[in-house]
Formats: sequence, structure tokens, C-alpha cells
Amino acid sequence: MRQKLEEIRKNAEAALAGTSSLDELDAIRVKYLGKKGELTAVLKQMGGLSPEERPVVGQIANEIREHIQAHIDEKVAELKSAQREARLMSETIDVTLPGEECAVGHRHPLSIVLDEVKEIFQGMGFDIISGPEVELDYYNFEALNIPKDHPARDTQDTFYITDNILLRTQTSPCQIRAMEERKPPLRVISPGRVYRSDAVDATHSPLFHQIEGLVVDEGITMSDLKGTLDTLAKKLYGPETKTRFRPHHFPFTEPSCEVDVSCFKCGGKGCSMCKGEGWIEILGAGMVHPKVLQNGGIDPEKYSGFAFGLGLERLVMFRFDLDDMRMLYENDVRFLEQF
Ligand code: DAH
Repeated sequence: MRQKLEEIRKNAEAALAGTSSLDELDAIRVKYLGKKGELTAVLKQMGGLSPEERPVVGQIANEIREHIQAHIDEKVAELKSAQREARLMSETIDVTLPGEECAVGHRHPLSIVLDEVKEIFQGMGFDIISGPEVELDYYNFEALNIPKDHPARDTQDTFYITDNILLRTQTSPCQIRAMEERKPPLRVISPGRVYRSDAVDATHSPLFHQIEGLVVDEGITMSDLKGTLDTLAKKLYGPETKTRFRPHHFPFTEPSCEVDVSCFKCGGKGCSMCKGEGWIEILGAGMVHPKVLQNGGIDPEKYSGFAFGLGLERLVMFRFDLDDMRMLYENDVRFLEQF
């Protein structure tokens, strides 16, 4: 009987050495340790042993059972870890694919419109850059000509990490970072999240998205600004779209303007979309202030530039006729499935 048990141990070991799947391991367990398995069959014959031999053989049988079971467990762990490894190796990210499409082919409306805007600007030779969301007060305000006591800070209250570190309120700090990192000619857009200490309602959110643009070179004028933004409007809303540049004030541009497009729903006659105005404001822009060029390490005597800032949520809401911004963040599949 001892010999039989020893044989079972050897056979089980040999079988285990050649296994390469969890199914095979389970088959071995059933064959040797199962209710109708070989080890059980031997134990059932123990009645024929002498009372002295019974506990000794019983002990050996138990040891063999434990030994085989431990070996199976070890193999299962090995196989599972190899499988996990193989899965991880096969999970590569194809960076050439359009971003964030879900398994059934939907894309978030913010991504859809952002990609359109990126493509339009890439077609005009702009590079796409990004900047940190946790930003220094210096880049977010100071270097943009918004000193500590400037009233423009009132409308851009934000979340402070320390006195000098905050969640950026605008993508405009990317202008300074771009100027520091690159030399003119400079043509960049910088999309990303921005934060303000605003309460949530249909048109406000403490987190939203902007797309900053900056062009700096010798001889850049307001007509470059107008031509570029007019091209953007026509590509976004159709070739008949007209643009209107209204004087405005931003601390980091001089002169500054707000840009309206003729209403893409009514063509300018006046409707609910444009609140009867015929025009819809889509962005702020202007010629980069000489002080801001200087802060970016660029000589304002030699170079000039223009900048603009687009609110992505506004574009998306107009584009898909949404009346409540919250829909963009609530992740309700009934909404998301429509895109
Ligand atoms: N940063 C501005 C804002 O959040 C938007 C803006 C206006 C950006 C004019 C610009 C600009 O680059 O030239 O309200």
C-alpha cells in the first residue's frame, strides 16, 4: 500500500510538471485527489490493514494529499500571474486613434468639438501644447498683467493651494509658458481644464474647459487676428458665417476685443438661440500686451502677436443646442449615447 501511495505521488508530480492550463490542473486534482480519485481509492482499502499500520499509512496518505494540493496551488498561482502578464502586455495604447471613444463607439461631445477645433488650427500650422492645472499665481495672474490688487481677480476667484499656488482660472498662463519655452515664430493652441470658485447652475461650473491661442512673430497685426478667427468661425459654423469684433478689455491684450459670430441657427435674423440678437459671442482676443511679451522673454520692439481664449463648453452647447451645461458632466448614458 505504501508503494501504491508513493506511485500516486510520483505520477501526480510528473503530470503536474507538464501542465500549461488551469483546466489541466483541475483534471489532475480530480484524478488524484477527487472523491473518486486514486488517493481516495487507496484510502478506502485501508480497512484491510493491521491496526498498527493504519495510522502510519493514513499519515503518509495525508502528507501526499497535502503535498499534491500545495503543488497544484502553486501552479495555479503561476499560471494566473503569467496570464495577467500576457494580458497587460497586449493592452497597448494606440496614440494615433481618436481619443476616448467608448466600447460602443460614442464620443463625449466635449471631445468631438475639441478635436474639430484642434484640426482647424493644425491646418493653419498651430502646434498643440498643454500647461499645468495647478499653477503659480505668477503665471495665472502676475505675468499676464494682473497684479495682486487688480479688479480682474475678483471675477476669477479660484481654489488656492497656498498664497502662490492655485488651480488656474484660465488657459492664458500657457501663453507665458509657451513664450518662455519657445522662440518666435510661435503659433500654438493650448486646450485644458480651468477652475473657478463658481456655484453650479445651467451655465456655470467650477471646472470647465478653455482653448488658448497665441501667435507671435515679426509684423503680426490685428488683421492676422481677424483673418485667423474668421477662418475658425467659418470652419466651425459654415462658410456663410460672419464675424463681428467688438472692443473689450483684457489686462493681457491691447487692444482687446470680443468676437461674435452670426447666429448659425437663424443666420442673423434673431431667434431663441441668439436671444434675438442675431449674434453669438464665442471668444475673447486681442494683440498681446507689450508687457506680457516682455514677461515671456520676447522683445516687444521686434515682435508682436495676438492671443485668444475660447470657452469649449459654450461651443459645445451651441453646437448641439444644449440648454444646460450640467449634462456635459453628469455622465448620464441616455445623454451620452446620443453622440
Ligand atoms: N483668459 C480670458 C478669460 O478667461 C479669455 C481670453 C481673452 C484669452 C482674451 C485671451 C485673450 O488669450 O486674448 O476670460
